[in-house]
Amino acid sequence: MIAIGSDHGGFELKQEIMAHLKKRGLEYRDFGTYTPDSCDYPVYGRAVAQAVASGEYERGILICGTGIGISITANKTPGIRAALCTDCFSAEATRLHNDANILALGGRVVGPGLALKIVDTFLDTPFSGDERHIRRISMIEE
Ligand code: RB5
Repeated sequence: MIAIGSDHGGFELKQEIMAHLKKRGLEYRDFGTYTPDSCDYPVYGRAVAQAVASGEYERGILICGTGIGISITANKTPGIRAALCTDCFSAEATRLHNDANILALGGRVVGPGLALKIVDTFLDTPFSGDERHIRRISMIEE
């Protein structure tokens, strides 16, 4: 189950991503925002981060205009490793190396074609499980 959220800057791209997830048969819950009106990204960044940290949702996807504010917010929640990605190499590497549990995207940065490829890469790449990466991840929370 995927938790997804955005502010107004990511609203349009979120609609495209949700349609894509549906087409792939993947279940998700939209934590808002539900209109394109101006709103505050920390509200949605925190809601999705808490949903993922609770263990109820395996992964999260967050989108704001740049992806920056919403990923900074999400990374304040213990247990969250939110990765802002603008390319598929980073999306793959952050799953393999960081076991990132939230993907952040910039709705004003990446086009929908690239964004959907980044989403697929993020969702389809497992954590490597390598000892060195487990060690480094555990050091983040210390
Ligand atoms: C909203 O204008 C914009 O600041 C927000 O979407 C995001 O880019 C913040 O980091």
